[in-house]
Amino acid sequence: MRICVIGAGYVGLVSAACFAEMGNRVSCVERDPGRVARLASGQSPIYEPGLDAMLQAHLASGQLSFTDQLDEGIKQAGVIFVAVGTPSGEDGSADLSHVLKVADELGLLLEHECLVVNKSTVPVGTAERVAQRINNRLSARGKGIVITLASNPEFLKEGSAIEDFMRPDRVIVGCDVPLGHDILRRLYAPFLRNHERLLCMGLRAAEFSKYAANAFLATKISFINEMASLCARLNVDIEDVRRGIGSDKRIGTHFIYAGCGYGGSCFPKDVRALIRCAEQEGMEPGILRAVEARNALQKTLLFQALREHFTGYWQGRVVAIWGLAFKPGTDDLREAPSIVLLDALLAVGVRVQACDPVATPALAERYGAAISSGQLRLSTSPYSVVEGADALMLVTEWKQFRQPDFARIRGLMRMPVLFDGRNIYDAQHLAEQGFLYRGIGRPALGHCKASAA
Ligand SMILES: NC(=O)c1ccc[n+]([C@@H]2O[C@H](COP(=O)([O-])OP(=O)(O)OC[C@H]3O[C@@H](n4cnc5c(N)ncnc54)[C@H](O)[C@@H]3O)[C@@H](O)[C@H]2O)c1
Repeated sequence: MRICVIGAGYVGLVSAACFAEMGNRVSCVERDPGRVARLASGQSPIYEPGLDAMLQAHLASGQLSFTDQLDEGIKQAGVIFVAVGTPSGEDGSADLSHVLKVADELGLLLEHECLVVNKSTVPVGTAERVAQRINNRLSARGKGIVITLASNPEFLKEGSAIEDFMRPDRVIVGCDVPLGHDILRRLYAPFLRNHERLLCMGLRAAEFSKYAANAFLATKISFINEMASLCARLNVDIEDVRRGIGSDKRIGTHFIYAGCGYGGSCFPKDVRALIRCAEQEGMEPGILRAVEARNALQKTLLFQALREHFTGYWQGRVVAIWGLAFKPGTDDLREAPSIVLLDALLAVGVRVQACDPVATPALAERYGAAISSGQLRLSTSPYSVVEGADALMLVTEWKQFRQPDFARIRGLMRMPVLFDGRNIYDAQHLAEQGFLYRGIGRPALGHCKASAA
């Protein structure tokens, strides 16, 4: 098929590369000419494992191309995917300006019948608004062509986006006429060869399913985090409780890890948008509000624990942070818990030495002043950032942080204190290694003696 994907971000770029991988001819339209130039040279502007190699292969084969010209991108495309951002607006609702702008532009440029598929996460009723805007402009131009609208929300996860796209748990296709279901069933058939998991429904149900999925996952996280806070008061280890409840099939093992809060480009904004949607419908979204409030609190816990540990005395302190991206496997810093911690530490005048395997360039862009003043030092080496530190905060559980050389770390730190924001370490083992260990919802273990260094 000939496909156009509008928006070369985490979703658009991965979708375009994966559709090309299955032999489709894909043109990806991106409004940022800098991004287009980078992409045309085979370099991904975002970090996603395996993406660079796919881009290079399909640019070379001619299956994939990039442009900043919408008219060029949509030429001959039978299916046009819209994968532009839908960030939070000021009141928390989804800001649809990018989606609606694309609709207007399509209405002004389309010359042929096609299926327009919305992949961006959008509130119920958006596809109808998009159709109306396209059709208004087509009629004004005297074009009698039929445009069919479909909703195909995306469920990929940053860090394993290609794998998720190539082998999806399910593909949801919303359309109010059979044509959309038929076209997308054909397009997705190679991705679903071993299991029939294409779920067809109406436009509005598809749009809502995406929000409900993200809100449910966020709820699981906030629930376990609330349990963790109670565990901390009751001298119970939340990790034992997690194992205890996760073995129940009705609960399951996923998304019940206590930690320093969820971030990213989806959960926070999608929970907010759903809250706003409920308010607009005159409904009180009590659960969603609690989920959001708990998450905001959770993001402050590491700083609170550190303040308690230093008894509010910050002068001359050096703090190391491991992991800045909102989760492992990505360079995405949107709403990352690390940002809340970093801002709080910089505000009290602490010196921060932070490490992340891929997100330091993105962080450097935001914290230029702190870097220039010497208050913040960034590195990709976990050992260099713990040198002379009074505490190490594990914020993002990248694989390279899972089994470090603790004896070496102990020797490098001024005070061997470890705050484990993702509960990935064995508390007992760390205490035996001479660390003071504190996790989320776990009893503190160990004593802290200054290292000989
Ligand atoms: N990031 C994820 O993990 C993820 C997962 C599932 C769904 N989603 C949803 O998918 C949508 C896209 O998310 P993302 O993370 O890929 O966003 P993103 O911000 O990474 O990318 C959006 C891209 O669209 C481009 N763009 C905006 N307006 C444009 C226009 N008029 N023409 C061409 N390009 C334009 C931007 O320049 C940007 O490169 C959002 O609605 C998001 O909620 C994201």
